[in-house]
Amino acid sequence: MKNKYVDLIEQTFEFPNDEFTVVNNELQWYGVPLMEVIKQYGTPLRIAYLPKIEMNIQRVRRMFNVAMAKVDYAADYNYCYCTKSSHFSFVMETVLKNEVNLECSSAFDMNLLEALYQSGRLKKDAFILCNGFKRPQYVENIQSFIDQGFINTIPILDNKFELDALLQGFDKKFQIGIRIATEEEPKFDFYTSRLGVRYSDVVPYYKEVIKKNKQVKLKMLHFFINTGIQDTLYYWNELSKAVALYCDLRQECPDLDCLDIGGGFPIQSHLDFVYDYEYMAEEIVAQIKNICQQRGVPEPRIFTEFGSYTVGESGAMLYSIVNQKQQNDRELWNMIDSSFMTTLPDTWAIDQRYPFLSINNWDQEYERVHLGGLTCDSQDYYNAEVHSNAIFLPKMEIGREQYVGFFHCGAYQEALSGFGGVQHCLLPAPKLVIIDRDENNEWYTKLFAKEQSYKSMMKILGY
Ligand SMILES: Cc1ncc(COP(=O)(O)O)c(C=O)c1O
Repeated sequence: MKNKYVDLIEQTFEFPNDEFTVVNNELQWYGVPLMEVIKQYGTPLRIAYLPKIEMNIQRVRRMFNVAMAKVDYAADYNYCYCTKSSHFSFVMETVLKNEVNLECSSAFDMNLLEALYQSGRLKKDAFILCNGFKRPQYVENIQSFIDQGFINTIPILDNKFELDALLQGFDKKFQIGIRIATEEEPKFDFYTSRLGVRYSDVVPYYKEVIKKNKQVKLKMLHFFINTGIQDTLYYWNELSKAVALYCDLRQECPDLDCLDIGGGFPIQSHLDFVYDYEYMAEEIVAQIKNICQQRGVPEPRIFTEFGSYTVGESGAMLYSIVNQKQQNDRELWNMIDSSFMTTLPDTWAIDQRYPFLSINNWDQEYERVHLGGLTCDSQDYYNAEVHSNAIFLPKMEIGREQYVGFFHCGAYQEALSGFGGVQHCLLPAPKLVIIDRDENNEWYTKLFAKEQSYKSMMKILGY
């Protein structure tokens, strides 16, 4: 009978694959034997595999460029990284090595970019798209960037008051964008996004205010669909509305030549995830071109701001099972050595699922379990995958260590739960280790942050 963990995974998924393999009953991730990493650093452990960031950037660039070539698109594609998905220096340095542009969202983002410029990583002509609500410090930092000669710094107006703030006490000429407030998906709690300027206000606002101002040029129209780029009627409808508005605006404003379609390329949240990225890129490009052609408007330069897609698949969280509790005849609880709420907050907040696999003991029989976190919060658990309302792991045995891994969690988790701050039940932030490859393509690890100390938490708390 095939009742080993390895049989279960091989029968359920296309396994092994390019990303995951098993050697001597232990999991390898992109050819990195994870047990070796665990032996060196212990758990809980957050790891970041940097080559995956580069792979994804290059893949998307290639897809959009091919899509454009196929329809003879007469403008270019520009990849921006949405910094809020992970601000870690190792992420920013990796994306900048790949010559991407940046999209940022608040005042401190600019301080971070300043540091990257000082260290020679950020070029002065990179596009810096400043989204988000512009509070005074953010406005000041944007002005300072424009002043210093970051010629492609483009504040994207989130509302009609921001331009006045940007112009106040500032006499340099600069380019701006406008964010459209998109309609939310029908099942959402409200109709229109709170972010951006309403559709019907965009052209009148341009004619009444921007057009009359010699200091600013409207360069970009921006929109972002909260639910991501999906092959749904809703998405295509929103895209065509945005392109139609671009054409209306372009007919009034010859400076306008950029359309930013935001982020939202999905990532693999389970091992059988299927998404036709090439088709979506081709369809987006073709639709933009068609609508512009029909309206007699030159097609725009296309910008994207992929956050999750850039960095999500490069991250993993590894835990060990510290104990097993049997709470009734059917429910087995495997307790991890950290907390889902503090290390993978999306599992709790939006029921996010991740590819989840055992790291060792693949030759053992499997059992159905619930995974429990160490906080005393009843919500601190994980017990379902996308394809199944249950999770399975090799059977626990006294004296046998068991490790588990959650993959593709490189985006947003630290930004949401904080890294090294005060955490639920004072559980410390885990160690963070970077995995990269050298010039001979050999993998190596580097400790980025030690496990948080009680001293650092006490200091924050005022002790
Ligand atoms: C304006 C904007 N652009 C891009 C993104 C990135 O989205 P994603 O991580 O889904 O690619 C976000 C995410 O919230 C956003 O608000």
